[in-house]
Amino acid sequence: TSPLRLGIAGLGTVGVGVVRIIQQQADLLELRTGRRIEISAVSARTRDKDRGVDLSDYAWEDDPVDLARRDDIDLFVELMGGDAGPAKESTEAALAAGKDVVTANKAMLAHHGQALAETAEAAGRVIRYEAAVAGGIPVMKALTEGLAGNEISRVMGVMNGTCNYILTQMQATRQGYDALFAEADKLGYLEADPNLDVGGIDAGHKLSLLASVAFGTQVDFEAVALEGIQSVTLEDIDAAADMGYRIKLLGVAQITGRGLEQRMSPCLVPANSPLGQLEGGTNMVVIEGDSVGQIVLRGAGAGEGPTASAVLSDVIDIARGLRLPTFGQPATTLRRARAATAAVP
Ligand code: NAP
Ligand code: HSE
Repeated sequence: TSPLRLGIAGLGTVGVGVVRIIQQQADLLELRTGRRIEISAVSARTRDKDRGVDLSDYAWEDDPVDLARRDDIDLFVELMGGDAGPAKESTEAALAAGKDVVTANKAMLAHHGQALAETAEAAGRVIRYEAAVAGGIPVMKALTEGLAGNEISRVMGVMNGTCNYILTQMQATRQGYDALFAEADKLGYLEADPNLDVGGIDAGHKLSLLASVAFGTQVDFEAVALEGIQSVTLEDIDAAADMGYRIKLLGVAQITGRGLEQRMSPCLVPANSPLGQLEGGTNMVVIEGDSVGQIVLRGAGAGEGPTASAVLSDVIDIARGLRLPTFGQPATTLRRARAATAAVP
């Protein structure tokens, strides 16, 4: 069988993690897929940077769009980030050139997911993005595959590792935002613009993707009622603790009589509950289905290894020939949801 040849754009926390797994687990990946998974070419902003992995066997492209169009790649792996610009341009170029796409980019999909999914389907290509939502937790696969026979009534949870890390470390270490940002950065949790993390925007992107798959609706990030954690103080955290609660950035998506409700905001949760006990960069996603009941998924929501693990799961699906629609059903059949929320009251 022919190898699956990858072009990887973005060699930061996630990109390097993906390279590392492919280099270290080549035989295991071949056993599981029946194909050799190879990297043909890579791209990043700076060529001469020591990234801690050997890239000398791979071709280099300065421009990710050129990488996406190369004849010697079958699959374009977009790990640069950004809701538009090079990430979107190279994803579109890859689809136009007949390549499948794997990405970890929730910002791009929250803003352009519907259009990209329609483009991919018209071209007979797939876009997969397990790593975009809740890092290492295979929540998109849970929704699109394991729970596909259920009508989903609610999806909720903690889905930003940075915010959970900051909130739990504020309480544990009494440090303020600046010191904790530096620690979260070292752990590889932060978005290029950390305001996306603490502003609740990154978690809102993820919630909008979950809602689309759970409820068969077009991604509607603009309708997520958002509030970040910037105004949460140590005093708030102490007051919550005195009453037996913890503060978590919690997201909820559900269909109500008024339409699709999507909220992401700091909430009080009982300190001794599973959500209250979530520490560090851990995420938790709770899904409620009519037949299955409640499913709780918990695990590392950010960082090199967990996120690269999720990217590899998509690469493996494509190597195996699994070609699922982007949002769990053909993009043209997704409904426009009537939004029940527009702002946090
Ligand atoms: P990162 O460490 O900042 O790495 C970004 C990479 O993209 C860098 O290698 C950078 O090149 C490259 N890049 C940026 N702009 C480029 C351009 N115009 N042309 C070519 N290369 C460019 O980011 P990351 O944490 O790996 O995140 C990557 C993606 O994964 C983002 O969409 C993020 O939201 C998502 N994600 C991240 C995590 C996480 O835990 N970190 C988890 C889930 C999803 P240089 O290295 O040369 O600057
Ligand atoms: N910045 C994100 C987080 C990365 O902290 O959760 C994972 O999506």
